[in-house]
Amino acid sequence: MSPLLSLRNVSVAFGGQPVVRDVSFDVASREIVGLVGESGSGKSVTALAILGLLPPTAEITGEIVFEGRDLPALGRRQMRRLRGAGIGMIFQEPMSSLNPVFTVGDQIIEAIRVHQRISRRAAADRAVELLEKVGIPAPRRRLEDYPHQMSGGMRQRVMIAIALSCSPRLLIADEPTTALDVTIQAQLLDLLAEVREEFGTAVVLITHNMGVIAEIADRVVVMYASRVVEEAGVFPLFDHPRHPYTRGLMASTPAMDMEAPRLVTIPGGTPTPGNLPPGCNFAPRCGYAIPPCAEGVPPMDAFADGQRAACIRARELGPAAPR
Ligand SMILES: Nc1ncnc2c1ncn2[C@@H]1O[C@H](COP(=O)(O)OP(=O)(O)OP(=O)(O)O)[C@@H](O)[C@H]1O
Ligand SMILES: [Mg+2]
Repeated sequence: MSPLLSLRNVSVAFGGQPVVRDVSFDVASREIVGLVGESGSGKSVTALAILGLLPPTAEITGEIVFEGRDLPALGRRQMRRLRGAGIGMIFQEPMSSLNPVFTVGDQIIEAIRVHQRISRRAAADRAVELLEKVGIPAPRRRLEDYPHQMSGGMRQRVMIAIALSCSPRLLIADEPTTALDVTIQAQLLDLLAEVREEFGTAVVLITHNMGVIAEIADRVVVMYASRVVEEAGVFPLFDHPRHPYTRGLMASTPAMDMEAPRLVTIPGGTPTPGNLPPGCNFAPRCGYAIPPCAEGVPPMDAFADGQRAACIRARELGPAAPR
């Protein structure tokens, strides 16, 4: 079966400066794919490229195919329609995505009516149903609330309700739980899992938090300095990471702890896009680096169960050799 979403050699540059390079991965329908990596590795730019929301200054190359259609080739209007009806999105800070001067009800009803020709009253009923679905108590009363009258967790639920209003086949969630406390984070993750069960929605979930990944992802794509360095099912990834960067991530995630706020204490810092080392971008920080690592960008090596890693020593090091 062909995947729901397929990225092939996607690169994005600003002013000639690449910030995403050669990114390829697939998302099957109903699959939850985690996209992880340190700050600045290109996760959000990748998400915005899929959504067609990068500024016009972005230079995009490669293929982004959703349900058989190449997204970068679509016009702005078609892309806008698809964002409502095929691909939903949830961002980190719902306060900035909700309009403070309209009630929550107005905003959900508006979102519903953009894509469905139904009366305001029917849309309001649907809004109540959606709010109920995302676990908001007394939903009919909450329609009258303004965003600032709700807690952060409730606002994020409203954003999920809006994203679901058009029954998307794919949901792109960029750090949807980062700003929330641990209990609320856990509830929202449960909600995303339920959404997948009930609506069959696939999810691309961007996060710094390996605990979140362990909790909910089926498969994981690890980015480092604008490139994908490893891709694996969640069990192989946690059981035997192949790329030294992923090994480092695992080692620096002591427990699968939702409170671990940020990735990583691998020594050294991430290189900036304008300042990438030659060859493997991770080599200067890598305990396994050898001279050939500086000679060329390592190709993706494929292992059993669809695990892939871009490291010339991955095979020789074997799965999860002790550090
Ligand atoms: N509109 C833009 N113009 C120029 N550079 C940009 C633009 N948007 C992002 N970048 C650069 O692209 C790189 C990748 O950014 P991106 O936001 O995708 O990182 P990220 O992995 O999402 O990081 P974080 O975990 O902090 O959210 C960064 O160096 C960033 O400065
Ligand atoms: Mg980001």
